[in-house]
Amino acid sequence: MKREIITTADGSRSIRIPEMDENYHSSYGALQEANHVFIEHGLRAILKKNTIRIFEMGFGTGLNALLSAQEAIHLKKHIHYTGIEAFPVSVDMALSMNYEKFVTADVEAVFPALHLAEWGSEQHISPFFTLEKIQQKIEDYLPKTRSIDLVYYDAFGPSAQADMWNLNVLEKMADLLVPGGLFVTYCAKGQLKRDLKSLGFTVESLPGPPGKREMTRAWKG
Ligand SMILES: C[S@@+](CC[C@H](N)C(=O)[O-])C[C@H]1O[C@@H](n2cnc3c(N)ncnc32)[C@H](O)[C@@H]1O
Repeated sequence: MKREIITTADGSRSIRIPEMDENYHSSYGALQEANHVFIEHGLRAILKKNTIRIFEMGFGTGLNALLSAQEAIHLKKHIHYTGIEAFPVSVDMALSMNYEKFVTADVEAVFPALHLAEWGSEQHISPFFTLEKIQQKIEDYLPKTRSIDLVYYDAFGPSAQADMWNLNVLEKMADLLVPGGLFVTYCAKGQLKRDLKSLGFTVESLPGPPGKREMTRAWKG
């Protein structure tokens, strides 16, 4: 499938798949969206823990992992980050993203390290950030752990890839989380919220990033 690099409205790059008419991030700003949805309303909501285990559905360009690593390094908290990705971006393409310029100098080297890291095993990217990239379809993934504190649900939207939002996959996310764990996504569809409630989550609709009225955050009961 052909991928094109695009520049979003805040100057950060993203990837577009013309065949699907779908982008990896909001065209209003990849960086703004990632910071707002996943860092501000996800990671920062559970910072009381000293070690945080994150699971990302759709590792893609690694932007969410980079911003999470920056938080970990600055706050001196350990993050164990598992990213699942069925169709990895090539290292060359990933390294053409311009994300290093949006992080502090002490974190710049993390971005290439995320992409050069081997798939399928734990890699120590920094003393505060351990990464495990899994190349697999989420449908085939059998969770090894049920100790995840935070799920970043960053699949393509329901109109582009409805299968990623069905109850079976969402149930897998619920199973991964510890009680009190958090599920966060940019998507605000009513069906998603109803499904999360049916899985025992307490669901919140929060203001979305620029260009989007709402996003969804859900706490596992
Ligand atoms: C919205 S993009 C992810 C954006 C990514 N978090 C980033 O910051 O670049 C969705 C991602 O899900 C991946 N994906 C698509 N189908 C998948 C599947 N069945 N299982 C796992 N990953 C899948 C895509 O390849 C793509 O990287």
